[in-house]
Amino acid sequence: MSFDLVLFGGTGDLTWRKLMPALFQAFRHGTLPEGGRIIGVGRDDLSHDQYRALIRSRFDKVDLAKRPSAEEFARFAALLEFVRMDLSKPDDYATLAATLQARNAETVVMYVATAPSLFTTVCEQLAAAGLNTPHTRVVLEKPLGHDLASNRAINHTVRRFFEEKQVFRIDHYLGKPAVQNLFALRFGNALFEPLWRREHIANIQITIAEDLGVESRGAFYETTGALRDMVQNHALQLLCAIGMEPPINSHADAIRDEKLKVLRSLKPWTQESLSQDVVRGQYASGTSGGGKVPGYREETGVNPNSHTETFVALRTEIENWRWAGVPFYIRTGKRLAGRDARIVINFRPTPHAIFNTHSAMTNSLVINLQPKDGLELHLLAQGQNNRQSRSSAAQALAPVQLDLDFDKRFGSERVGAYERLLLDVIDGRLNLFVRSDEQEEAWRWVEPILDFWATDTQGPRAYASGTWGPSASSAMIARDGFCWSEES
Ligand code: BG6
Repeated sequence: MSFDLVLFGGTGDLTWRKLMPALFQAFRHGTLPEGGRIIGVGRDDLSHDQYRALIRSRFDKVDLAKRPSAEEFARFAALLEFVRMDLSKPDDYATLAATLQARNAETVVMYVATAPSLFTTVCEQLAAAGLNTPHTRVVLEKPLGHDLASNRAINHTVRRFFEEKQVFRIDHYLGKPAVQNLFALRFGNALFEPLWRREHIANIQITIAEDLGVESRGAFYETTGALRDMVQNHALQLLCAIGMEPPINSHADAIRDEKLKVLRSLKPWTQESLSQDVVRGQYASGTSGGGKVPGYREETGVNPNSHTETFVALRTEIENWRWAGVPFYIRTGKRLAGRDARIVINFRPTPHAIFNTHSAMTNSLVINLQPKDGLELHLLAQGQNNRQSRSSAAQALAPVQLDLDFDKRFGSERVGAYERLLLDVIDGRLNLFVRSDEQEEAWRWVEPILDFWATDTQGPRAYASGTWGPSASSAMIARDGFCWSEES
């Protein structure tokens, strides 16, 4: 199948950090369909060869395992071309159209990896240049808007020129192997389904912790914050994958219909829950990676009095028969104690105790997303058969765990999130992409939090870099009688 992949923002950060390495991996793994061309689009005046040299030099900053050898790059570079464009100029789209028409590939993918403010312009101009043909697909990167209204405006414009089935809204968390394994665990195995409900589950914790700060993205982050950057999309998508009903089949819309129902069932916010069940924090200076690191307000591009949150913890519920009353906790932040993304399903205690077991010791299933990818099942066993335990009438149990390491089982060189998602776009598979109604529903739900913060002059709570965030986050969950998994 021949394809042209056009990267708007072809010299930008996302392109060289994520997209080119992912495309190269697919090329190296032999999964990138043959007959492809990758066209970088940017404002600079570059020849094809200069663009190839630029991309080659950027690979020096990519993980060693993902860097091409000279010979590999020479073969990969044969796919790369460059088209100079000012995205606001209609004439430049005509140049692009001529480049594409000359080859007339079966599939054309327009990957809009630009500032979101350009999304609608690009879509309008593509259509004006006749580039919204039925075999065109558009990929939109997050953030898609900064609130419900701006998100709807983008979706509205995109829908004027492209059908929903042509639009691929990326949430790279859906491309992570661990998230696909979560779908496999839930819908490819019968074991857990009977337990996957309020009768057996006490609470669910979703943590996406990063040890890095905002790095060079201070100015972007200032107007974004953790709620928009991580909760509205990645964390809620994980919550949907945990909370959704089994879809009727594996088609994209069957899956997306079920995710949408979860988002629609999220407990609506009240003034009380907004003040009790949401904690926002901002990192202060501290220690990370063995060295001293500055606070968020000292980062480049950040207002020294900033109220932007770099941490969010919240409690919600899914109001339906399966989940009524089960708290779902979400926590994400930058400059936390480690890079650690996981979902913990805590099961209820046994209904009647015959062993002498601490009440906090219950079964849990941990889905590790990163740094390692795997599953842990925490159980209790009769471990120490010592005199004391033999003599006591109610014997004590010890925690043990079944540990499934997917990196070991399937190899750590597995298909990365962007690699997987880019191949899906080229093949036209929408399963792991977000539909506009899902996205709007997620914005609808986070918006009251944004509105509440806008009127709350206290601002976020400071937390030292290298910790697990403000203590109010532990207090929030302790009110329900639980604690975050690393504190248990
Ligand atoms: C991005 C956010 O969507 O996800 C970043 O904009 C964040 O701020 C990143 O660092 C985290 O992704 P990952 O795959 O490294 O967990």
